[in-house]
Order: sequence, then structure tokens, then C-alpha cells
Amino acid sequence: MHPFPPLDMLVPRHIQKIEPYIPSRPDDVLRQMFGCPTIYRLNNNENALGPSPEAIRAIQAVRPEQAAIYPSGDAWHLRQRLAERFHLPPDSFIVGNGANEVIAFVIKAFCQEGDNIITTDRTFAVYEWVAEFSGYEARLVPLTADYSFDDEGMLAAVDARTKIIFLCNPNNPTGTYWNEERLRRFLDRVDGRQIVVVDEAYGEFVAKSDFPNGMELLREYPNLLVFRTFSKMFALAALRIGFLAGQEKIVDVVRRTCVVYSVNSFAQQAAIGALKDADLQIERTRRMVQEARQVLCEELRRLNLPYIAGEGNYVVIRLPMSDTLAYRKLMAQGLMVRSMTGFRFPNHIRVTLATVPVMEKLAAGLARIIA
Ligand SMILES: Cc1ncc(COP(=O)(O)O)c(C=O)c1O
Repeated sequence: MHPFPPLDMLVPRHIQKIEPYIPSRPDDVLRQMFGCPTIYRLNNNENALGPSPEAIRAIQAVRPEQAAIYPSGDAWHLRQRLAERFHLPPDSFIVGNGANEVIAFVIKAFCQEGDNIITTDRTFAVYEWVAEFSGYEARLVPLTADYSFDDEGMLAAVDARTKIIFLCNPNNPTGTYWNEERLRRFLDRVDGRQIVVVDEAYGEFVAKSDFPNGMELLREYPNLLVFRTFSKMFALAALRIGFLAGQEKIVDVVRRTCVVYSVNSFAQQAAIGALKDADLQIERTRRMVQEARQVLCEELRRLNLPYIAGEGNYVVIRLPMSDTLAYRKLMAQGLMVRSMTGFRFPNHIRVTLATVPVMEKLAAGLARIIA
């Protein structure tokens, strides 16, 4: 037997400190563990309507023989379609294996030893995680009392080594958003000194007229990058595909850190399909989410459970018990939710807004566990 490698010496200190993320088990395993015949997945903000008809058609058109051939390394055809939809040049897009992958591209492209990134304490944690496991400081500026990103606080946290500021608009999990005026004011004050990423993973869910479309601000702000995903609104989460957009000069820098061929052909084809009837999908989904929010919030008020319901297809609920215990009790009823201690919201859960009958099941499940 060979000696075990000297991990203390081989593993950088910043990696030694990190706890690995443990994903949830597959549904069949969970069904067996919790003894429930059906699982309602309300933990990942998936779209209960499923992919659009055109996306389904594109997936069905996939031929098994294609599996032998490498995909387009830079999502060529998809970028042409994105260019048409957003009125930007094809080279202003980089497609990644989910928006998660483009987060890593951007951090790798701009940060070096001693640099930091700025985000908030209660938002999508991957910005923070990628920075930290890459050896850069993530400065977490607390959300304001009304759960929104703190513009003054973020600007005060900037120093000479700050490279990127990550904003999640609307925020996951609080659903709060900066309107166009506030975002512009922030970008004006940053004045091109840092890269500002606006993550619009849930942007398509927002129907408010003052919600900014980051894609339309790109021409004015050369330091702006916008993230989008096909996982949420377009219901292609299993295929792992998302993208970033920015001015070509800055996107050209990010492209240097891309791992070519990370986005498979089937995902690219499905995304092209999804763009064909995107507006229909957005309309149908917004309707479902709005109804679900209305029904669920009414039930939560009836149950006296405080909640945070903003934009996006999710609601955060405060429970009179630990979120891990609530997770197990709800799971036993087939209701899979997201426990929020990891998001720095102890005793809270986040639930995805799905169809009305499922929201009613969730409300009944919550009533049972707090009884
Ligand atoms: C705010 C936000 N950004 C990005 C992502 C990553 O999306 P994906 O990697 O599935 O494209 C998510 C997924 O939950 C998210 O909530």
C-alpha cells in the first residue's frame, strides 16, 4: 500500500476550511427514505409547467447518433438566436454549463491573489463560494432591513482590490429588486471602476414596469455583465445551460477562461427551441406563479406564518421550529422544500411557487407540522 498523500501540505489553507456542499439525494432514494409515494419538488425553483412546446420539440428531435459528436464549442447557433432576441452582437454572449459555470468564468478572468468580490450575506451563495474556493475574499454586505441589496453599504465596502460586485436582481431568496433608477444610480457611482454583474436568473418572472432589463443597459455601461439561465423560466434545468452578456471587449476577456465544450449539444438545441416560443412560456409561467403566490400567501396569513414574498417564483417562510426539522417533517409528506440556514436565514424555508393544487397541499402540510 502506498502512503496516503500529505493533505496538510497539498491542500491550500483556503480549501481546508471549506465544507463541501452536499446535494440532495435523487427523488427515488428520498421516496424510499421518507416513505412517501410522490415528491413535490419545491426546493429548487424549477418551473412546474415544464419546457415550452418548442423546447420539447427540439429535445425530441435529438438523434442518439449525435452523442458521438462534440458540441459546438462556442454555442454558435444559439448565440445567433440570442443576438436576435436581445439586439446585441453574437460575440457579446458566452454560454455556459448553467449560469453557475459563467460565475466561475468571470471570477477567474478578473481576480488575482489579494483581490476581493462584493455581494451580500443573504443571496445566491455561489458567487461567495466560487470566490472563496478560488482563494479570494468575498465581502458580504448585509441586506437592508427591507431585505434588499444595500447600495451605500456595497459602495462603502469597495477598496482598491475589489474587482467584481455581484447583484442578484430579483434577489434569490428574498424576491426584492432594484428598479431601473436605483440600478442606474449605482452603476453611475461605480463609474466603471469595478465589474458589476447583474444576475437576472429570475428576471423573466418579473412583470413590474420599473424592473430593469440588464440587456438594455449593456450599451451604456461597459463594466456591466448580465447573467441569465435556461434553468428557471425555460424549465431546462436538467440540461445545464445559462449565459452571460456584456460588451464584446469585456466578454472577450472572460472568454479566455472558458472551458470549451462544456455545454452539450442537446442543451444548445433545447435552448434554441426555447427561444422560439419564449414569450408564450413567460406569459403562461407568470400566470401560474402569480396565482400560486396569491393562494399560498393567503394560506400563510391564515396560518399566522410570516413570509417574504417578492418577485421570482419563490417565497420564504418563517417557521416556529428549526428549518432542518421542518424539512424532514414536510419531506415525510412528500413536500420537498429548501431549508434556509445555509442562506443565513435560520428557521426559514424557501418554497417554489408551482400550481395551485400543489400550493394547497403545501399549506396543508405546513398546517400539520405547526399544529
Ligand atoms: C440567482 C441564481 N443565479 C444563478 C443560478 C444558477 O443557475 P443554473 O446554473 O441552473 O443556470 C441560480 C440557480 O439556482 C440562481 O438562483
